[in-house]
Amino acid sequence: MQRLFDSHAHLNNETYTADERAALIREIESSAVTRVMDIGFDLASSRLAAEHAARLAWCYAAVGVHPHDADSMNEDTLAEIRRLAGLDKVQAIGEIGLDFHYDNSDREAQVYWFRRQIRLANELRLPIVIHSREADQLTLDILVEEGAFSEERKSWFLQRLIPGGKPAGDARVLLHCFSGSHELGQQYVKLGATLSVAGPVTYKNNRRTVEMVAAIPLEYLLAETDAPYLTPVPFRGRPNKSPYVEHTVRKIAEIKGISYEEAAERTFCNAEVFFNIDEHKQPDTNIGHK
Ligand code: NI
Repeated sequence: MQRLFDSHAHLNNETYTADERAALIREIESSAVTRVMDIGFDLASSRLAAEHAARLAWCYAAVGVHPHDADSMNEDTLAEIRRLAGLDKVQAIGEIGLDFHYDNSDREAQVYWFRRQIRLANELRLPIVIHSREADQLTLDILVEEGAFSEERKSWFLQRLIPGGKPAGDARVLLHCFSGSHELGQQYVKLGATLSVAGPVTYKNNRRTVEMVAAIPLEYLLAETDAPYLTPVPFRGRPNKSPYVEHTVRKIAEIKGISYEEAAERTFCNAEVFFNIDEHKQPDTNIGHK
């Protein structure tokens, strides 16, 4: 049976009315999407993501404060993120990072709370979901400095099997909607990161992301929507939703020269392992957490 994993969506988005969200949930439940990560971006959306995860069997959550909201963060907010991270089916810290395109929050505050939330993920031994825009080098430097790719961190997680059966380091660090060059992508792969691809890979003039997907082994790739944003072709211009992840997976299949079914299954399994879900969960990955 075909199954799809939307590794980054915002069911928790404040723009949905209760009716719209209920309709969206019904639509997901009648689609091939059987797993959705609802990703927090501030305190309210992190709480809502955790609620969705508690209520919906197919939904899991990440909790964290986006760089856009770094100015609103304080020790109490961080304490609440820590509490939410301990709830059932909350699998990651995110989305956290740097956004120097919009600069909605002061850069110094973005850097400070990015570091503090990486430290929280290290303390709780949780996967990390990164948002980075126009801050490539500083994002990478901070992740390295804070030990996000350390051998110790890698030792907490199941290692990734790459062709030939050789295990490769997996630091459980996800660069969401990765838009960097294939060189930067390869640099992240060497460090043990994972990259996720969203709707823009289907856009006609986006050669950069197509080249990146071609260059990165499939074991390091996940598919996402970032719904309600970044709608893939052929629905570009409308609000995005999890079932549309199919079109991103089809594009990955085309670039990799494999069947849609294989791309769907492999990106599904990659995401299950990344977020430590179900049978892939290792007993020791949640120490100090659950
Ligand atoms: Ni997002």
